[in-house]
Amino acid sequence: DVPTTYDAPVHIAVIGGTGLQHLPSFTHAATLHPTTPWGPPSSPISILHHPSPTTSSPIPIAFLSRHGPHHSLAPHEIPSRANIAALRSLGVRTIIAFSAVGSLQEHIRPRDFVVPDQIIDRTKGIRPFTFFEGGMVGHVGFGDPFDTALGAVVRRCGHSLVGEDIQLHDGGTIVCMEGPQFSTRAESHMYRAWGGSVINMSALPEAKLAREAEMAYQMICMATDYDCWKGEVGEDVNVEMVMGHMRANGENARRFVGAVLDELSKEEHGELVRAKHLEMQTKFAGGIT
Ligand code: ADE
Repeated sequence: DVPTTYDAPVHIAVIGGTGLQHLPSFTHAATLHPTTPWGPPSSPISILHHPSPTTSSPIPIAFLSRHGPHHSLAPHEIPSRANIAALRSLGVRTIIAFSAVGSLQEHIRPRDFVVPDQIIDRTKGIRPFTFFEGGMVGHVGFGDPFDTALGAVVRRCGHSLVGEDIQLHDGGTIVCMEGPQFSTRAESHMYRAWGGSVINMSALPEAKLAREAEMAYQMICMATDYDCWKGEVGEDVNVEMVMGHMRANGENARRFVGAVLDELSKEEHGELVRAKHLEMQTKFAGGIT
């Protein structure tokens, strides 16, 4: 039986997406059921122990399943404010978020990984997207929606794995659409004309809320389809296509995330992992806990 409390602060979290529901190679130290002023998060939070490369005490990692333990939450139903607030209340300051994406570019092939550096917001404003309301006014910078220092570490880890069965694209623009329906062909062509690299339904509001909460956030994407812009008969994206590629390449996704956690567990990244560089960008983050 796994404990349901955990006393030490946890600085690093992984938010798993479609196809990345577990990280089985880590020791399961606790399962937490937090509540927040925004309700409960998508799933219980697993505390995983990662052996520290430099000390004898293990590094705790928080793992949250974005769509719920049984994938029962549609993108617009994900309680992102509760997810971010629950992680932050554990002490998390660094988030590695995983997402299956459609490719908007020929050279980004299904099963390739992308570490994006930009986002175009095509959500419809129906998801609660800010902590700043009810008399609390705040405006955070979002010119670089991902944390550049964290992104550099993630790309370096990804490149150390590149080989026959792992391809990685540095940078790129995610178009985050509302869903849950996939795009029309006209929309898909428009996103390509806008310079989009990949498309998903889950980068936002997660990335915005992480920025408001002064947490370093980087998404790792895995392409599962060419959306519908290629227009080849029978090749439009569907759920089986997304799940099939995620299942087939899930082990590589776990290897990538594992390599990033190995690197972030090193003491030299202590300042980055605790996101000291983001502190006091907002006057509010302390209130989120
Ligand atoms: N997730 C995976 N493939 C996708 C696509 N084509 N559009 C939106 N979200 C996706």
